[in-house]
Amino acid sequence: MKTTAIIGGSGLTQIQAIKIIEQKYYQTPYGSPSSACSIGEFCGQQIIFLARHGDPHTIAPHKINYRANLWALKQAGAEQIIAVAAVGGITPEMYPARIAIPRQIIDYSYGREHTYFAEEKEAVKHIDFTFPYDENLRQQLINSAKLLQLNIQTNGVYGCTQGPRLETSAEIARMERDGCDLVGMTGMPEAVLARELEIPYACCAVIANWAAGKSAGEITMPEIIKNLGQGMADTEQLLQHFFLH
Ligand code: HPA
Repeated sequence: MKTTAIIGGSGLTQIQAIKIIEQKYYQTPYGSPSSACSIGEFCGQQIIFLARHGDPHTIAPHKINYRANLWALKQAGAEQIIAVAAVGGITPEMYPARIAIPRQIIDYSYGREHTYFAEEKEAVKHIDFTFPYDENLRQQLINSAKLLQLNIQTNGVYGCTQGPRLETSAEIARMERDGCDLVGMTGMPEAVLARELEIPYACCAVIANWAAGKSAGEITMPEIIKNLGQGMADTEQLLQHFFLH
């Protein structure tokens, strides 16, 4: 199996079952990553784990140094990346505590360092991003979920907002008209930087709540924490199956 990196998001700053062999803190030409890379063993495979928001979880989505994170994973030897991320559900099939493996992205974030091709010394490279996620990796995750009989959503468009605030109900209505099924704050520029570094990348999105205006009342933290607990337990199961087979 290729050396796989897992980027853990809210609700997944650690995976208990990883036997950590080494913690490597990389400095990169783009600054410091969110945390050390934990190099270890998970279900008999060598893996690399990085906590996207730091460990403990202190870095807001718009403050994450995505370029340093992806660069560090490349230096650590990552050959493919599974990004675990908490999201809100917009369309009816995207209900809380469910897992979705999105197929597409719309980026609403701004002001983030979103490319390695920012130096004027080099010719600008326009990479292909028609299909932002690696289809082979996506199918492997979907297949593991099927074999485990986990009820996941195997499709969907991930809309990336700036955060850290949640959205207004009008913003979610607009995103739905645009075709978004899920809303999160960290999917970009993470996915495009992985593509620029030529590392296959797929997302395992854990639905923490109905997006703004999709349920009665306000979105509460206890609700998010409860759903993330369930969704992350399923995610760990999914990852175990993925690495064992
Ligand atoms: N919006 C944006 N990001 C999120 C949400 C949400 O509702 N839930 C978890 N991450």
